Amino acid sequence: MPYSEEFGDFYYSKADGRAECRHVFLAGNGLPERFAGARHFVIGELGFGTGLNFIETWAAWEAAAAEGARLEFHSFELRLLERGDMDRALAAWPDLGPRAAQLVAAWPDRLGGDVHIEFANKNRPVSLHIHAGFALEQLARAGFSADAWYLDGFSPARNPDMWSAGLMRAVAERTCPGGTFATYSAAGWVRRNLQAAGFAVEKRPGHAGKRDMSAGILASALPVPGQVLPSG
Ligand SMILES: C[S@@+](CC[C@H](N)C(=O)[O-])C[C@H]1O[C@@H](n2cnc3c(N)ncnc32)[C@H](O)[C@@H]1O
Repeated sequence: MPYSEEFGDFYYSKADGRAECRHVFLAGNGLPERFAGARHFVIGELGFGTGLNFIETWAAWEAAAAEGARLEFHSFELRLLERGDMDRALAAWPDLGPRAAQLVAAWPDRLGGDVHIEFANKNRPVSLHIHAGFALEQLARAGFSADAWYLDGFSPARNPDMWSAGLMRAVAERTCPGGTFATYSAAGWVRRNLQAAGFAVEKRPGHAGKRDMSAGILASALPVPGQVLPSG
């Protein structure tokens, strides 16, 4: 189980990180269903870690997206793992398939800045951009707008910077109209920061009957009650 000494926390659920990823981050954002009609889909993630969420998403994209459609995956990471550590962490999931080996093979030998890798399996291309450094600083410079966000810092009590009001505002500013977020956390102050940033926040059941999780949509994209929408 990959564990961070710096933050005193595990990288993913001790029970079943893959199933939890699909439940919290994919289903929490209405994925893979939303992939089906998209020509171009953008995901933002706070915390790349071992790349497990990325690999699950990439597999779901290849299974659900139309031919020729492109996935752009932007992740923010303060401590990029060395290739050997990533390889060891992903080896815990032998049935992840060839994508884990592809990610490890394409991973830079020397880490020293942002990472950009293009994958082109099955004519459903995937661009991976990892913005290296503190998420708040890097997000201020980022030039994309995400359809869906995975908020996956370490636990809010141990890693409060990854859930701050300022960072949640920066996330909202880089979310498309109708864009969504999902996170395993249901901490009250995290939910309040997301609401203050402009998201309508919903508490949902966590994975396998465990703790609650949160998911939501940028509130400005919700119809105002009583609003008459233009016809035609
Ligand atoms: C729970 S792990 C992410 C797990 C990951 N999504 C995966 O699939 O393995 C949280 C990650 O957030 C990163 N992190 C913590 N504080 C950060 C910050 N202020 N800015 C950017 N990344 C940060 C940690 O280094 C760690 O890799």
